[in-house]
Amino acid sequence: MRKLLIAGNWKMNKTVPEALELAGELKRRLDGISDRDILICPPFTALYAVGKELEGSNVKLGGQNMYFEEQGAFTGEISPVMLRDVGCSYVILGHSERRHIFGETDDLINKKVLSAVKHDLIPILCVGELLEEREAGRTKEVVKNQVLEGLKGLTPLDEFVIAYEPVWAIGTGKTATPEQAEEVHSFIRELLSDLFGREKAELTRILYGGSVKPENAGELLKMENVDGALVGGASLKADSFEKIVKFDAEG
Ligand code: 13P
Repeated sequence: MRKLLIAGNWKMNKTVPEALELAGELKRRLDGISDRDILICPPFTALYAVGKELEGSNVKLGGQNMYFEEQGAFTGEISPVMLRDVGCSYVILGHSERRHIFGETDDLINKKVLSAVKHDLIPILCVGELLEEREAGRTKEVVKNQVLEGLKGLTPLDEFVIAYEPVWAIGTGKTATPEQAEEVHSFIRELLSDLFGREKAELTRILYGGSVKPENAGELLKMENVDGALVGGASLKADSFEKIVKFDAEG
């Protein structure tokens, strides 16, 4: 049985005091929930303070990106060692904004994925097609390529998470239908089975991301192969993130 993972990607939002306020609020409101994993990914500048705030809490901490080297002359970059140092257990890698705004390639993303697992961080590898690619019937081809390239060199013993985030659904208010999400998620699970075996594929969580809100979280999360959500905008307010985390699987 896969444990759901509800993750908030705060992107480039929140000063340290704002981040502390939201993290403190979430820690209180989500206290005691153990049947699903909860993760927040604040910007780098707030990680240390938020990590302290979350000590002893069931809300986990993640980075939004990292470089693959441990240290050295890489101006402006953050290493896996640094993320571990401030209390991160996860890191988002290959987010569509990294791919499309900052030009990250599958090869670079793969180096980061390998480095993350080497340093005991669970990578959340983001994949997803552009609108033109979906309209041209290329969704599975694009996603397959990103999954195969992103996971190259991993073994079935490495823990990782996949996030399917169709680019046309990110920040647009347009969510994939539960059926559209399920179709791609089950396709990804088959790919994982081919790569790492059925048992590993069944254990690996595949999150959906793209305009997840309290109103649509339940119908998406009820799909068989949707094992959680990567939430952007709706993770920036305690009310909406709390509602998504507490969605009722039976309701
Ligand atoms: P939105 O939920 O704002 O669409 O963002 C999704 C996302 O990119 C999460 O990583």
